[in-house]
Amino acid sequence: MTQPAAARRLEQVQQPVIPVMGELIRQTPGTLSLGQGMVSWGPPEQVRQAVDAALQQGDPGLLDRYGPVAGSEALREALGLWLQREQGLDLSASALLITAGSNMAFNAVVQVLCDPGDELILPVPYYFNHEMAIRLAGGTPVAVEAGVVPDPERLAAAITPRTRAIVTISPNNPSGAVFPREVLAAINRLCAERGLLHISDEAYALFSYGSDPVWSPGSGAGSGSHTITLGSLSKSHGMAGWRIGWAVVPQNLMGDLAKVQDTILIHPPQLNQQAALGALAAGAHWCRGQIQGLAARRQQVLDTLHQPAAPWRLLAQPDGAFYALLQLESSLSSDQAMEQLIRQHRVALVSGSSFGLSGCCLRLSYGMLDAAELSEALERLVAGLWSLSRS
Ligand SMILES: Cc1ncc(COP(=O)(O)O)c(C=O)c1O
Repeated sequence: MTQPAAARRLEQVQQPVIPVMGELIRQTPGTLSLGQGMVSWGPPEQVRQAVDAALQQGDPGLLDRYGPVAGSEALREALGLWLQREQGLDLSASALLITAGSNMAFNAVVQVLCDPGDELILPVPYYFNHEMAIRLAGGTPVAVEAGVVPDPERLAAAITPRTRAIVTISPNNPSGAVFPREVLAAINRLCAERGLLHISDEAYALFSYGSDPVWSPGSGAGSGSHTITLGSLSKSHGMAGWRIGWAVVPQNLMGDLAKVQDTILIHPPQLNQQAALGALAAGAHWCRGQIQGLAARRQQVLDTLHQPAAPWRLLAQPDGAFYALLQLESSLSSDQAMEQLIRQHRVALVSGSSFGLSGCCLRLSYGMLDAAELSEALERLVAGLWSLSRS
């Protein structure tokens, strides 16, 4: 008897790389991970207090009943103030949708934007879950090699009558690059002129170490009508497991986004929304205090990888997020390099192929390890890279 199979479009969806890497790590005890994109800190104390207070409210209470589809009014209001203050967003033409993490926000947006065959432009390197979500929605991801800091003219050349949006990520996963304001502003203008949406993923909005400040395209006056800004508590507040993210969207899309959210999630979990209120109340200075500690880790990475005549190079100046992107001179594929680094050198990085990169590329994340562990991990990495370069 033949078994019912999954829909054919699932064949086009890449295998999620993080579980693949996780399995290799599990099989190789003692591996140090420069892999998964997470920070080492947990949430501010205000989160525990907000959760305790919510739990004491009695039953049946706030936590037990359905709430507004787009998220509680209190959280949307607090988040609106946060986004205006910290990212300078112009919210006059926008609405806010709270989701279970910003991956879900991106997913809801592409469900709303894509008829079969509609295209979204993803500058390479892209974030793998963006590419996967577009395919799941029946759309077509158009990967464009426009430079690690994308050249707006090369993105413009990829626009077709089916294009719906251009996606940018700054500070960038996987390269750590902070895109200059002029570049983002040019892409945002291009979207306005060509009737497209600019989807700006700002999961790392508070993570920058260089002299270039992080700039939000949604802060341009009037940009809210063609800009979607995505964000999350996962990184800045050490709350990846709490699954709270958001999308700032043009008001006219909100009705259709509510259809998607109502069907999939109904609304974000009440307790987690209370926790999010506590997180925002702690203030951005709390987050910056944590992020400050990563500056030294980043310097450790740069100092160790800066070796004359090394067979690797960084594909961008990693001034933001907590990533660096390496290209290695080697005949190995990215996937082979990831596997060999784990199995033979007990250090894990993420394969560049999942970000749409060709050649032998690896993403390094320095968000999780303390100075001593990072030093050991980098020592293994350098030995591994020299050895892989001879393959
Ligand atoms: C660019 C980018 N967007 C979104 C996400 C997902 O974040 P969340 O935990 O909010 O779903 C990540 C996580 O690594 C990311 O790197």
